[in-house]
Amino acid sequence: MAFMRLPRLRVLLVEDNPDDARLLRRALDREQGGQQGGSITLTHARRLSEARAALDAGAMDAILLDLTLPDSSGVMTVRRMHEAAPETPIVVLTGSEDLGIEAIHEGAQDYLTKGEVDVQLLQRALGYAIERQRQQEQARELLNEQAARMAAEEAVRARDEFLSVAAHELYTPIAALQLSVQSLIRDFGAPSTGGTSATQRKLRIIDRQSARLVRLAHSLLEVSSLRSGRFELSRQQVDLVAIVAEVTAGLEAELARSGSTINLHGERSLVGLWDRDRLEQVITNLLTNAIKYGSSQPIDVIVSGTAATAILTVTDHGIGIPQERQQRIFSRYERAVPARQYGGMGLGLYIVARIVDAHGGFVRLESQPGKGSTFTVGLPRLGPPSISPVPLPQRGPHAE
Ligand SMILES: Nc1ncnc2c1ncn2[C@@H]1O[C@H](COP(=O)(O)OP(=O)(O)OP(=O)(O)O)[C@@H](O)[C@H]1O
Ligand SMILES: [Mg+2]
Repeated sequence: MAFMRLPRLRVLLVEDNPDDARLLRRALDREQGGQQGGSITLTHARRLSEARAALDAGAMDAILLDLTLPDSSGVMTVRRMHEAAPETPIVVLTGSEDLGIEAIHEGAQDYLTKGEVDVQLLQRALGYAIERQRQQEQARELLNEQAARMAAEEAVRARDEFLSVAAHELYTPIAALQLSVQSLIRDFGAPSTGGTSATQRKLRIIDRQSARLVRLAHSLLEVSSLRSGRFELSRQQVDLVAIVAEVTAGLEAELARSGSTINLHGERSLVGLWDRDRLEQVITNLLTNAIKYGSSQPIDVIVSGTAATAILTVTDHGIGIPQERQQRIFSRYERAVPARQYGGMGLGLYIVARIVDAHGGFVRLESQPGKGSTFTVGLPRLGPPSISPVPLPQRGPHAE
């Protein structure tokens, strides 16, 4: 029989009539050969309050419940019992079929008609009640998980939308501000135009900070366009080495403040068909990370490659990244450092990965905590064959 395979069941019998209780216990003992270790262990309570106390004293697998007790009667008994033990299945013992059905509406799993109860029927009803309760529990958990997942997805979507709107609103005024500051530096910043060194210093601070704000707003804009699929590459002949040099020059102030230097090695020029602005962002994001997390140590940048692929490596000797975080940091908002110690939005590497991917390239990371990190970016020089304007080399007639 199926229920014989069930582990021993702890059943709470709530029954005020001592004769009924005795009958049931005797029938169970007979069926189980009078052994204590049978498939059902019965605990007897005579009233609802005793039942509650028994449940407090130890968990039960199921409750066999008579509806007419000294301290509760009718379907209210089911409701109260269910409230006291919402996760324990209840099988009602009743003289009336109608009351049994009502009990099910109140949360009971099943009912048995008094007088017709034999042990096998009882065991089967209890087994099914427990199984049904377990399935309901699982279904509830699944629903809760689904709801939590949907709420989390919605929160991310709301954050993306907010950031996208905020980025659009921020970008225009900040970019205008930066242009004005640069024009002020030209007009009043230099001693020849009457600017004092204090004025120059202040203007440079404004310039540096507004450049940083422009970069932040630009990253946010880029992320929303990468996500929305409004993302097209505009390829042209670009010299990777020249862009690295340009980006490095633009980071002069950050480098001075951090104490790091950037040493550029490798090819003197390496041209490919790439999206210039996007490549600039890839390099900016990798270099600003190397500066930020580079513990003031020198940073090595190498540009090398073959006829088919350009390889850029950025190596720092800074804090490094624990192995278990290395994959995740390429996702949006993922960071592996305390926010209070290092500012940032966790978007830089996501943008790198998406841009490199759109070019048909790859990005790899090797890092050891405390020793430093090397980011390697590989970019096909002609781009994916389908959009390459340069004809691919013809294969011989015998090639497959
Ligand atoms: N060179 C590096 N050395 C150590 N950790 C790094 C390095 N580059 C990235 N990380 C880790 O990866 C995380 C993600 O980097 P990412 O550039 O995406 O975001 P961020 O630098 O935190 O913020 P931002 O969006 O301003 O770039 C960082 O928060 C940091 O924990
Ligand atoms: Mg970064």
